[in-house]
Formats: sequence, C-alpha cells, structure tokens
Amino acid sequence: MTKEIILTGITTTGTPHLGNYVGAIRPAIAASKNANVTPFYFLADYHALIKCQEPERVRRSSLEIAATWLALGLDTTNAVFYRQSDVPEIMELMWMLACVASKGLMNRAHAYKAATAENEQGGENDLDKGINMGLFAYPILMAADILMFNAHKVPVGKDQIQHIEMARDIAGRFNHIYGEHFTLPEAVIDEHGATLSGMDGRKMSKSYNNTIPLFEPEKKLKKLINKIQTNSLEPGQAKDPDTCTLFSIYKAFATTNEVLEIRQRYAEGIAWGEMKGVLFEHINEHITPARERYEALLQAPEHIEAQLQEGALKARAVSVPFMKELRKAVGISRISL
Ligand code: TRP
Repeated sequence: MTKEIILTGITTTGTPHLGNYVGAIRPAIAASKNANVTPFYFLADYHALIKCQEPERVRRSSLEIAATWLALGLDTTNAVFYRQSDVPEIMELMWMLACVASKGLMNRAHAYKAATAENEQGGENDLDKGINMGLFAYPILMAADILMFNAHKVPVGKDQIQHIEMARDIAGRFNHIYGEHFTLPEAVIDEHGATLSGMDGRKMSKSYNNTIPLFEPEKKLKKLINKIQTNSLEPGQAKDPDTCTLFSIYKAFATTNEVLEIRQRYAEGIAWGEMKGVLFEHINEHITPARERYEALLQAPEHIEAQLQEGALKARAVSVPFMKELRKAVGISRISL
C-alpha cells in the first residue's frame, strides 16, 4: 500500500520560538516517527526571499531551523528533510502552475490583500506600491511545493488554509486540462495544538515581537520568562489560571496531573514571581537535552548539511521523474530522439 504523504514547509526568515515548537515542530516530529506516513518537511528558502532581502539572515535561519529539527529528534530515516532550493523541479513546476492559475485567484490571497489594504489605509494612490511579484505569486510557489510530491495532507496554521485551497484549485485546473497528474491536498489544522501565548498575552508570533526563542541559553530564557506580563494581584490572592499567560504556556509543556497541581496553587494564591520560577524550571528541564544537541550541531554544520543533501536526493528521486512526466503532459519534450 502506498503511504500517506504529509508535507509542510518552514520559511527560513527567523529563529524557532516556543510557539513554533508547540504549534508545528513538536507534532511534526512526532509524525516523523509514524511508519504509516511519509513526511516531507522542507526549509522554504525561496519563500524567505519574498519578505527578507538580508542574505545573512536567510542563511542563519536555514541553519538554525535545520539544527532545531534535528536536535529535537526528527526521524530522517522515515521523513524526507530537505531544502526547497535543492529541488529545482519545484521552480519549474511553479511556472507550469502559474500558466493555469488565474490572476483573479491571486488577487484574493490574504497576504496580497493585506499588503494592498495597508497601502490604502496609508492614503497611497498606488495600491501595489512596494509589493513584489514574489508576494503576489506566493500561493503558486506553495502549490508547487505541495503538488510536486502529491501530498495528501498539509499541516499548517489557520492563516495558511486559504493557500491549500488555492493549491487544490490550481491542481484541479491542471488535471482538467492535462489529465490526472496531481493529488488534491487537504489542510490539517491541529485543533488542540492551540496557539501559544506570547510575552504580552497575544498569540506568540514574530510579527508581534513577543516571542521566546526555543533554544535561548538558560539565563536569557529566565530573563524572558520574568518579563511575561501578569496582572497586579498580590501573593496570597487567588488567581485565575485560565486568563493567565504563564499558565497557558505551562500547560503546553505539562502533564494533566501537573496542570491540576498548578491550578490548585493558583487557587491558593501563588505569587507571580514564584510561578515564573516554576515555569522557567519546567521549560528549562524539558528543553535542556535538545538544547545541548542543538548547540553541538551548530558547531558541526557539516552534519546538518549532510542530512539535507541526503533529503534532497530522496526528494529528487520523486521530483525528477515526475517532472519528466509533467513536461510531456504539457507538450514540452524533444522533437525526436
Ligand atoms: N507559507 C508557509 C508559512 O509561511 C510555509 C510554506 C511554504 C509551506 N511552502 C509550504 C507550508 C508548503 C506548507 C506547504 O507558514
């Protein structure tokens, strides 16, 4: 039986934070150990260029993200772990897809609409000011990522659901014109992998500047946790865990029993300073072994590179023959042998 293919990409513009870990990396790594699926996980480095034109940052982020996934125990014998840019067939496919995707569909993409809306609010006459073609065509590149490997399931955050719908739409059009070549992908949203709160209580996100990097050195981690916002209730006063950022982060790293115990301590009026200590100890203990592996990997980038090269070989074993088939399907081939 052919295994189910799950695929997801990580844009290489930042440093992985606790929110990424809880929402995406941890479930993906668990899935990498499931022998009934073949996971394709990749560094979306061409996606990074859409919003980041700082080469050093893109390079550094690729290194940090790859090291993070490996340090956390990604099973690379089962999962295919690669860099998007190592699979040039994805770029080739993007053009084929661009030629069947309607421009109107792209006009409706959230990221593009948000950018034009911002121009409008700023009183700009040219609503497309400062918007590059990469941003406009972003959903087509994402469709190419997904369709290249005929992924069945695509685990993503809620903000990405529209892009998966677009990939389905584009795949359907291609199939209609050229025959059934692509599987229609489905988005998978992890409902209980709820979004983690950031230091200010809003969703932890790079764009809010409220993140706690996953592998921050111990001292810095402690400092950041101490800065998490709380209300002004005094020690001894009962506190509500369900509206508390400290508690919501704690919950993401604790067992049911540990959570119950902490609920009790909130009722008894645990002091904020004490709760911050509890949270720090707990997270620190949880991530220290992986942090040590992460730091060792950063000192030996050739190990990381070797893993990515191996992943690229596995990915291209699929993409090269598939691209041959697709070229033929659209009428691009040698005239004679
Ligand atoms: N755009 C996605 C994000 O920002 C990352 C990504 C790129 C992706 N290509 C993908 C996710 C393909 C899933 C499938 O989160």
